[in-house]
Amino acid sequence: MRPTSALAAALALASGALAGKIRYLGVAIPGIDFGCDIDGSCPTDTSSVPLLSYKGGDGAGQMKHFAEDDGLNVFRISATWQFVTNNTVDGKLDELNWGSYNKVIDACLVTGAWCMIDMHNFARYNGGIIGQGGVEDEVFVNLWVQIAKYYEKNDKIIFGLMNEPHDLDVNIWAQTCQKVVTAIREAGATSQMILLPATNFASVGTYVDSGSAAALGAITNPDNSTDLLYFDVHKYLDINNSGSHVECTTDNVQAFEDFATWLRDNKRQAIISETGASMDPSCMTDFCAQNKAISANSDVYIGFVGWGAGSFDTSYILTLTPLGEPGNYTDNKLMEQCILDQFTMDSKYAPTPTSISTATETGTSTPTPDPSSTSGNSPSSTTPSADKQTPSSSPKANPVNDPSSDTNNSSKDGNKDGKSAAPSGAKALSGSLLLTGAAFGYMMVAF
Ligand SMILES: *[C@@H]1O[C@H](CO)[C@@H](O)[C@H](O)[C@H]1NC(C)=O
Ligand SMILES: *[C@@H]1O[C@H](CO)[C@@H](O)[C@H](O)[C@H]1NC(C)=O
Ligand SMILES: *[C@@H]1O[C@H](CO)[C@@H](O)[C@H](O)[C@H]1NC(C)=O
Ligand SMILES: *[C@@H]1O[C@H](CO)[C@@H](O)[C@H](O)[C@H]1NC(C)=O
Ligand SMILES: *[C@@H]1O[C@H](CO)[C@@H](O)[C@H](O)[C@H]1NC(C)=O
Ligand SMILES: *[C@@H]1O[C@H](CO)[C@@H](O)[C@H](O)[C@H]1NC(C)=O
Repeated sequence: MRPTSALAAALALASGALAGKIRYLGVAIPGIDFGCDIDGSCPTDTSSVPLLSYKGGDGAGQMKHFAEDDGLNVFRISATWQFVTNNTVDGKLDELNWGSYNKVIDACLVTGAWCMIDMHNFARYNGGIIGQGGVEDEVFVNLWVQIAKYYEKNDKIIFGLMNEPHDLDVNIWAQTCQKVVTAIREAGATSQMILLPATNFASVGTYVDSGSAAALGAITNPDNSTDLLYFDVHKYLDINNSGSHVECTTDNVQAFEDFATWLRDNKRQAIISETGASMDPSCMTDFCAQNKAISANSDVYIGFVGWGAGSFDTSYILTLTPLGEPGNYTDNKLMEQCILDQFTMDSKYAPTPTSISTATETGTSTPTPDPSSTSGNSPSSTTPSADKQTPSSSPKANPVNDPSSDTNNSSKDGNKDGKSAAPSGAKALSGSLLLTGAAFGYMMVAF
């Protein structure tokens, strides 16, 4: 994956004897999900679009770095239902907010990588479980049909139906997911991968025992195949599998081995779309061990996405945000040792950079992307942001309140007025509260 000397390559070959080659390897680019609660409440005023032009983290520069310098080929871009519809649960994709989201997707697509949509709502909308007391299945189906039509022709988009369902009836949830899969395919999006998430926060440790693997495994495309339908797997390594503690207490090796056996027996595959750890010595040991085990089972674990960079700064507990400045980023030791050194990528899936995004060519109700949006966010045309030091602890201007940032390039608002432009409501949140809220967003209970 990374350029290596002949000797290093030989050593990698030797140590990688057990490891297969993984198809998709990358990093999560969160920010829009900041402030989400596991009850599916996701306030839009704490969203931080991970682009310098929105005073968020340098998601565009990060993805460019990861793709060009590390050869990574998948990025998971967080969205929330509230954000993309501007709080109209059964409404249309909001022109401005969907446009903002697509600037991040564009920045991903230009790297040549696959771009995974992460609908970060925990199978809920504002407290109600989809199809189980909350909004009806049809409302959720309508959300995904709109997204599917938008990306109908772009097979580099991966549809992550939902982040971390929990505390629900997984058989009913699988029926909901079946409706969405059928609708996505019937809307014309037949060539995209779709990720099916288990209950209990998609934990690998309970995938089979919770009944999730069997229920989700029965979901099919309209032609009765399961092509491009993959299980979505998450796992953390701290005491309550929440990703909120510095110390790691498990390496999860057994759990990943066990589910790999189930997958192989059932001729299915999975993508690990979220896992992460701190740089505490316990985690440098456990996270590296976990990922080595995943790598050794890359016949069934075809993808891996580490959490996270985006609008998180370099001091976030699980940070994979690269060090340095736009245009001159380097990876932290967690990224280098526990991710890049543990996996060998399948060169058939190397990122294929494009100069023009294809994201919106088939879009219907949304504006044509401003061609300056991607170039404007590239490191070469953006001065380092003072803001960058604390992207997640310093609330960013919310595009909901700052639509001008949607139509202008980034050199103006890349830094200097970052703090003064923060909405007063978000400003009242302390950095740690925002961080806690964000970190809390992903998590749950130990198994
Ligand atoms: C899919 O399976 C169902 C039930 O077995 C069957 O009725 C239907 O004809 C099949 N559809 C296709 C396209 O094969
Ligand atoms: C890149 O960053 C490194 C330190 O991380 C520094 O030594 C080097 O001078 C920088 N290069 C450029 C071109 O800024
Ligand atoms: C979202 O909706 C509110 C209330 O209708 C409106 O004031 C605001 O401009 C909208 N924001 C965006 C980004 O569309
Ligand atoms: C953005 O650019 C437009 C012209 O494209 C200009 O009219 C507008 O004033 C600019 N907005 C800001 C905030 O600079
Ligand atoms: C957009 O970028 C161009 C070229 O970098 C610059 O001259 C112009 O001032 C920028 N516009 C805004 C509104 O920042
Ligand atoms: C996990 O631990 C964190 C930190 O102690 C705590 O805030 C959180 O509530 C715990 N989560 C669960 C589900 O126990």
